[in-house]
Formats: sequence, structure tokens, C-alpha cells
Amino acid sequence: MTRPLGFAILGAGLVAPFHARAVRGAKGARLVAICDSDRGRADRLAAEFGARAYYELGRMLADPEIDAVNVALPNHLHRDAVLQSAAAGKHVLTEKPPAMSLAQVDEMIGACRQAGVRFGCTVQCRVRRSVQAVRAALAAGRFGRLLHADVFMKWYRSEEYYRSDGWRSSRRSGAGVTVQQAFHYVDLLQHLAGPVRSVQARMTNLAHPAIDLEDTAVAFLDFECGARGLLQASTALWPGTDVRVEINGTNGTAILVGEKVAAWRFREELAGDAEARMLGADGGPTAAGGAADFGHEGHQVLVQDLVDSVREGREVVIPVASVRHSLEIVLAMYQSAARGQAVDLPVEDDETAWGSQATR
Ligand SMILES: NC(=O)c1ccc[n+]([C@@H]2O[C@H](COP(=O)([O-])OP(=O)(O)OC[C@H]3O[C@@H](n4cnc5c(N)ncnc54)[C@H](O)[C@@H]3O)[C@@H](O)[C@H]2O)c1
Repeated sequence: MTRPLGFAILGAGLVAPFHARAVRGAKGARLVAICDSDRGRADRLAAEFGARAYYELGRMLADPEIDAVNVALPNHLHRDAVLQSAAAGKHVLTEKPPAMSLAQVDEMIGACRQAGVRFGCTVQCRVRRSVQAVRAALAAGRFGRLLHADVFMKWYRSEEYYRSDGWRSSRRSGAGVTVQQAFHYVDLLQHLAGPVRSVQARMTNLAHPAIDLEDTAVAFLDFECGARGLLQASTALWPGTDVRVEINGTNGTAILVGEKVAAWRFREELAGDAEARMLGADGGPTAAGGAADFGHEGHQVLVQDLVDSVREGREVVIPVASVRHSLEIVLAMYQSAARGQAVDLPVEDDETAWGSQATR
């Protein structure tokens, strides 16, 4: 019997305990280490989960019991950590967004390929059962011609949240609602409706005057398949309600609210449809009102998948390569908001759009 896959978590902040619980719950996985440059944080989380504490990535990567690194650092620090981990021959599961530019994402994907390690991303909404049911229905052609794919993310984050760490209010760290919170749902839209061809976005700050970030974005999307999409995303709307995802085709409509299926109608009813309508009914909170207000189940599915992918010699279910387009859409949204006009994809990296005051 082979030994369990040894995991380390890099970053011991808000999302780290979700990774720790996920590793603890996955079969064939063992949590070996926690690393954080803040010693107190590393020590506390390591003690809670019975792991070793490290304070510097280089030292941790020398630990032969570590096979995989979960990167849970602020967004702008993912790239260096991924490159270093891959160079040390460790598999990588990175938090979203995978990096701050398409060039960085390509560099990271190339490095992981060259090192022969898995490189997955925790856009865990994709593994919700309700989302998988919608995707299967799309693949089976049950919606007919896809007409609309929309997301309404009316969330709330307090001023204290934005002040809790320097990077949380920094544009260049990827802290605006579009790239930070809405990334999951931009990803879900392209995962379900396919590539986006054109984006027109407006961004504004509705309710966090002390912070120089957009807390609200609205975008109109044209998908390559001909469907249209609306994306509304905000952290300004107290108390925060579960995200609505709406998919409409000529032959069917599905609406998800949080993890739950709220509507599931097809012109041609099939045997499994009554069961599909119950999916997610037992679901928990989905981060609508607070950054840590969700469960670790999604992360656990992805940790389990990484373990299984290594054992079975296959790709992970969410390779970062499949998330690249999500970052591209997000970048296009920032560019569109900054320029005040629609932006066609593919786009190039544009540092000025990131750094500019894109609020209008
Ligand atoms: N998938 C999800 O649902 C989800 C939820 C929350 C956050 N996230 C993502 O997780 C990542 C981390 O977010 P967070 O809210 O936990 O951030 P956080 O600020 O709470 O934690 C980050 C930790 O990294 C540590 N750190 C910073 N630089 C370091 C370095 N060079 N070496 C070692 N440690 C270092 C900090 O001390 C801090 O403890 C972000 O990419 C965020 O977008 C994902």
C-alpha cells in the first residue's frame, strides 16, 4: 500500500482552515504542514490540526513528506509560490484567482507541466451537485438553444472585512469584488455557457467609501454560442443573499439559488427531474453575508480529486488551464469599465486597467 499523499497549506489565514478540514476529510490524504510568514498564525493552525509549522516556503518545500501544496496566500502572491512549489516537484492546488495576469497564469501552467505535477484551482462552486446537474443537462442538449446565462450576486462585506488586512483593499492584489468574490461566478458562467466573446462592464463603489475599490460590478456578456448574459456582483448589499444563477434555453430553464435548485423546467420532462429539483435542498451557507460563512465540502472534493488523480495517473477535474478564460473575462470587465466601452475577447494583459480608478 502506498503512503497517503502529504499536503501542506501555504497561508494560514481565513481560507486555510477550510483546506485543513478538506485534507483531513479526504481519503488517502494527510496534512503534514502549515506555512505562514506570520509565526503565530502558522503555529495556531498547525497545533489545531496536528501538523508541523513552517514560516518560510523554501524550508517547507524541503520536507520530503510533502507531496502537494495548497496555495492559500493573497492573490498577488500565488504566482511565485506556485513556481517555487512546482520546481520542488510538488503538486499544487491554488486558490482563486490563480494569478493576477494571463502571462502569469501561462507561466505557472508551463512550469507545472514541465515539472510533471498536477495544477488545480479551487473554484469549488463547479463541483456543487446542482451545478453538475445543469452542466449535464446542457451537455445532453436539454435546454435547446442557449439564450441567457445570468448571475446575480448580491453579497455583503463590512468595512472591517476590507480593513482586516492590507491586501484586501488593494486593487493590485486583486481585491475588488469582480476579481475577488465574483471570480467564482464568472468561472461558473463560462463553465456552463462556454467562452465569452465580448464584455461591457460598469463598476462602482456603492457602500464602502473608505476603500478605493469597486464593490459593485454589472456586466453584459456575449457568449460565443450566441447566448447573452448578465452578471451583477456586489459586496455592498446588506445582509447579503445567496447567488442566483439562471440558465435559459429554448427548451428549458434552470435557476439555482446558493446550492439549491430553485427552478428546473424542461419541455420534455425526464425520470430524474423530480430528484434534480431537490438538489442542494440540504445545502449550507454560501458566503453571502461573510467571507468565512461557507462549508469545506467543495474544497474536500477537490483535495480528494487531487489525491485520486495522482493515484490514477490522470488530470485533475479543475486544471488551472480551464480557469484561464475566467481570468480573461474578469480582465476584460476591468478594461471595459476603465475605457467606458465594450471589449472583445481575447484580451491582452493591461496593467493600466488594473490600476486605474475603474469606478463610474
Ligand atoms: N475558494 C474560496 O471560496 C475562497 C474563500 C476565501 C478566500 N479565498 C482565496 O484564498 C486566498 C487567501 O485568502 P484569505 O482570505 O485566506 O487571506 P488571508 O489574508 O486571511 O490569509 C493569507 C495568509 O497568507 C500569509 N502570507 C502572506 N504572505 C506570505 C508569504 N510570503 N509566505 C507565507 N505566508 C504568507 C498571511 O500572513 C496570511 O495569514 C486568496 O487567494 C483568496 O482569494 C478563496
